[in-house]
Amino acid sequence: MLRICCTLARAPLAWPAPKPLRGLAFSAAVPKSRAFWRLRSSATAYTTSSGGGKLLFHQLFEEESYTYTYLLADVSHPEKPAVLIDPVDKTVERDLKLVKELGLKLIYAMNTHVHADHVTGTGLIKMKAPTVKSVISKASNAKADRLIEAGDKIFFGNLFLEVRATPGHTLGCVTYVSGDEPGQPQPRMAFTGDALLIRGCGRTDFQGGSSSQLYHSVHSQIFTLPKETLVYPAHDYKGFSVSTVGEEMLYNPRLSKDEGTFKNIMENLGLPYPKMIDVAVPSNMVCGLQDLSRKTVQATPK
Ligand SMILES: [Fe+2]
Repeated sequence: MLRICCTLARAPLAWPAPKPLRGLAFSAAVPKSRAFWRLRSSATAYTTSSGGGKLLFHQLFEEESYTYTYLLADVSHPEKPAVLIDPVDKTVERDLKLVKELGLKLIYAMNTHVHADHVTGTGLIKMKAPTVKSVISKASNAKADRLIEAGDKIFFGNLFLEVRATPGHTLGCVTYVSGDEPGQPQPRMAFTGDALLIRGCGRTDFQGGSSSQLYHSVHSQIFTLPKETLVYPAHDYKGFSVSTVGEEMLYNPRLSKDEGTFKNIMENLGLPYPKMIDVAVPSNMVCGLQDLSRKTVQATPK
């Protein structure tokens, strides 16, 4: 027996809560504004499934880098273990306050890849909550407490995420996919980072990127998931919050094309140099702020 309900947690008077939808597949394509983003900064959903965990799910937004951070917890477990996917340094206070309010035990702060447009909140979270473990892929060559590879399972309570390698935006990109076993949430959920965005994808011209590799990653690792699988990206710039594998296979203006057309599109995007890359990448390679702070402290003469 599966039960799904959805609420918007932050401004119920200003932004009407969506009606419960089968598969949590609610999204909004509306003109972007700062006020709008503030109104919909957090969406919550609960999914229960007999014989397994009860998933608490929050989609959180950081408005400067247009980043989504996801909070997942197994609230049927006595300790309510939780994970954060792609936390941002600027919203760590908000995220940890939410974790505390909900009585969760945060165990992992995870990244889908080494971000170039913002500093990860992972290091700051570890400073404030030292028992939390940071997670990133081994292929990223970045530092973290747990270096994961394709096929690994990341458990929180009775729920888990499996790791799929989806390089191409960066060489170390992964997609975290909810489990495919009895007791795990249905439909499945894919946290795609920048490999697959809603009606888009991450650029492939920096950080070991490759348009050919990205095309094959998405088609072999994401588009092979059930079509009803929910797609939760690391960013959105147009007001969308969630998509499905089936929707992106049909309507993604880049990845629905053949490989040659995709490569041509990616080679002619004409994007400017990423303005945060020189700050964000070196920091994110060492798990964000914490390790840099330690080095600063160690290097400071007493
Ligand atoms: Fe990225």
